Amino acid sequence: MTISDGAAQGNGVANSHVKNDTSGRPSFFEDYGVWKEAPVLVGTTKFEPLPDVKNIMITGGAGFIACWLVRHLTLTYPHAYNIVSFDKLDYCSSLNNTRVLNDRRNFTFYQGDITNPSEVLDCLERYNIDTIIHFAAQSHVDLSFGNSYHFTHTNVYGTHVLLESAKRVGRIKRFIHVSTDEVYGEVRDDDDDLLETSILAPTNPYAASKAAAEMLVHSYQKSFKLPAIIVRSNNVYGPHQYPEKIIPKFICLLNRGKPVVLHGDGSPTRRYLYAGDAADAFDTILHRGQIGQIYNVGSSDEISNLSLAKKLLSLFSISHDRREEFSRWVKYTHDRPFNDHRYAVDATKLRQLGWKQQMSFEEGLRITVEWYRRFGERWWGDISKVLSPFPVVSGREVVEDDEHVSDNPQGADSVCVRGLRIKRTSGSCGGDEAESVKKKRKVDEFDGRQQQKQMASFTATACTSSIPEKCT
Ligand SMILES: NC(=O)c1ccc[n+]([C@@H]2O[C@H](COP(=O)([O-])OP(=O)(O)OC[C@H]3O[C@@H](n4cnc5c(N)ncnc54)[C@H](O)[C@@H]3O)[C@@H](O)[C@H]2O)c1
Repeated sequence: MTISDGAAQGNGVANSHVKNDTSGRPSFFEDYGVWKEAPVLVGTTKFEPLPDVKNIMITGGAGFIACWLVRHLTLTYPHAYNIVSFDKLDYCSSLNNTRVLNDRRNFTFYQGDITNPSEVLDCLERYNIDTIIHFAAQSHVDLSFGNSYHFTHTNVYGTHVLLESAKRVGRIKRFIHVSTDEVYGEVRDDDDDLLETSILAPTNPYAASKAAAEMLVHSYQKSFKLPAIIVRSNNVYGPHQYPEKIIPKFICLLNRGKPVVLHGDGSPTRRYLYAGDAADAFDTILHRGQIGQIYNVGSSDEISNLSLAKKLLSLFSISHDRREEFSRWVKYTHDRPFNDHRYAVDATKLRQLGWKQQMSFEEGLRITVEWYRRFGERWWGDISKVLSPFPVVSGREVVEDDEHVSDNPQGADSVCVRGLRIKRTSGSCGGDEAESVKKKRKVDEFDGRQQQKQMASFTATACTSSIPEKCT
């Protein structure tokens, strides 16, 4: 693979290695200067630099969470650490995320693919890397239902290549592997938050690929004494997130005066952590985390997709109390093949290292809305296709879907639980009211296998009837 000097191509990165793009597609390196208007967003923590760490490779550095850490470490530790952002520049990335660092002596961008051993080894050798923080992944659950080989290839094989390369160079002091809370699978409403020792029970191809990657990390730690740490974070949100994920997508839709589209009935909940707090978590784990340990990164802010939509409508000062107003702004489409009702991790172990969540959800969401109103339409180029309910990615192109969208919650009359369709008896449980009538009625008895504690049940709404049928 030809690797050429990016500076010579005029991409403005002082230290970089980028590939020649002969595809004829718009170049990732075209710089329209939008990043110059944006605030430089980093975390807040600062630690005594580690004596054995000097050159840090951060994979996926042009993507969302990693770009926060790349900026944070480059700017917070200018004399202690050299940061190499290693990224393939996939459809969801943007060099705008790190352009503000281009003139920093301790920052380098390397365009490379984690599934390509020679590029990974070249980067490790060329920059004398001693620490790897591995974020690069196919990260969008929705896409994993359609293109799951791609997820296995990047998330499992790509991680394997990094591990094998780290083993080969032999001087790696820390290998921080970024996993997700989704590896635990679904958590019931009345279950305790999950500890790092909880069983892994992923329910979608994305989560399964992340769990599989963890197994490889664990094996390299045991077999080859690779000094690894695994981090399982809940959902992260904030500026710089590609608008395929729910918060930036809904903001960008509302910004265009378009309704948001909920999957299913909008009842699944997620916990959200502001990206600045996530950057602090990774900084803390880098400096204080113990080799061989796993750390959950958890937020206390849990909200359903439906309530999130309402919160965003309020932030846009869009009234939605009356039924007609609500229907104008909130639409529904079919649900994912399986949608975990909720995730919930316990982050006590990380807090014991000194980390704490600082940003309130209200304030973080306000900052995020403001950022996307200013930059959302310009940061990644044309995002129109990404904003459709279930877009598809083909190569580096996002292709619009053609999904049925309606005013009524989809599947509110029934939910599919591991092959069984559970009907609701009353029409009064749909949409807006579904949340208020939500009760913790378990349907364990419908699922004969009782696999894992957190997988074996499903929270249904109070109006769920008792007779399950096979889903088609
Ligand atoms: N976003 C979340 O809420 C969240 C929550 C928990 C865990 N995570 C994990 O954090 C990590 C980062 O997530 P994100 O949301 O910031 O992701 P993202 O999709 O915004 O960024 C992923 C980055 O990886 C790069 N990449 C993809 N394939 C690559 C390859 N083969 N070689 C090199 N680079 C490649 C992409 O170009 C992109 O820049 C992922 O591992 C994800 O599983 C994310």
